[in-house]
Amino acid sequence: MTIVLSIKAQDKGTVTVPVKSSYQVPVAEEDFTSFFKRISVDKPEVRARQMNVLNQRYDLSDRPDPNAKMSRGKPVQAGGRVKLPPGVSWDQLTAMSPEEIRARGLFPAGFLPLPHPKNEEGGMVFPHFAIEGTKKQTGTDLQRFDVDFDIPDQLLPEFPAAIYLTTRPDLGDVSQGQLVTTSNYYELFNGILNPKQLEGLRLLLTPFAQQQFNLTADRRSEHPSLGVACFDCHQNGSTNGATHQAGDVRPEEVRHRIDTPALRGVYVQRLFGSQRALYGRRFHAI
Ligand code: HEC
Repeated sequence: MTIVLSIKAQDKGTVTVPVKSSYQVPVAEEDFTSFFKRISVDKPEVRARQMNVLNQRYDLSDRPDPNAKMSRGKPVQAGGRVKLPPGVSWDQLTAMSPEEIRARGLFPAGFLPLPHPKNEEGGMVFPHFAIEGTKKQTGTDLQRFDVDFDIPDQLLPEFPAAIYLTTRPDLGDVSQGQLVTTSNYYELFNGILNPKQLEGLRLLLTPFAQQQFNLTADRRSEHPSLGVACFDCHQNGSTNGATHQAGDVRPEEVRHRIDTPALRGVYVQRLFGSQRALYGRRFHAI
């Protein structure tokens, strides 16, 4: 990828120099108000482009399984969702060799990596119910002005998720149906967790500045933001489907979208596997 930078050369006016870069455009000198206006205008188009990709590839309709439910009752969606290219059936594809499928361009696009809702920009994007729930409780606004989350609610995990404690299985779901934030964690967990665990939970709920949500002009929230908490994505220790991109790859356009996994069962995990890679592979990737 080449990024074109404008460099003001002495007495020579403006010249453009192509630079092969691992970074996004590293200039943040535009006035925030003008940047906000310029980028917000494109938001509907960014959304339409992404929904077009999704609808071409997948059947996103609401088809709940009559029996399968998530812990707190949200129905699990049923059936295959990848759309086939026009004029072929799964049976026909099954009968073809990989070479034939490739030669005739019949590989279903739904199995290709799904782009981030704004792939050229990336970063953290939250579903609307997570944004609304967090704002209501803490005042933190996780809305971006340049992009909206794309996957429809029925295909996402239930919100808020149930919480089961390995230390107190007798209590069942301890969430009381609430989204756990800094505003209620103490009330919900005092007397259930030990003091060290309560402090750990507090840190998982405390926002930290990052690329899209921070106090500077280089941010994607309308107002300056204290940042994002671990549980803004791993809500209630599970997930709300929030997305961003894998950190390991450059240039930007080949970075993969990643889907927040639940942290259920990740108790004292020793290895952190980016994109589910084993430690060895990750080591070699560095
Ligand atoms: C923008 C949403 C987001 C935020 C905020 C976030 N995570 Fe994650 N988390 C992810 C995604 C996406 C992955 C999967 C990463 C991958 O596949 O490369 C992940 C993976 C993990 C895993 C590995 C789980 C597994 O099954 O291997 C752990 C542990 C984890 N995160 C903990 C945290 C902690 C602790 C914080 C706060 C410091 C945090 N996360 C903040 C989205 C997020």
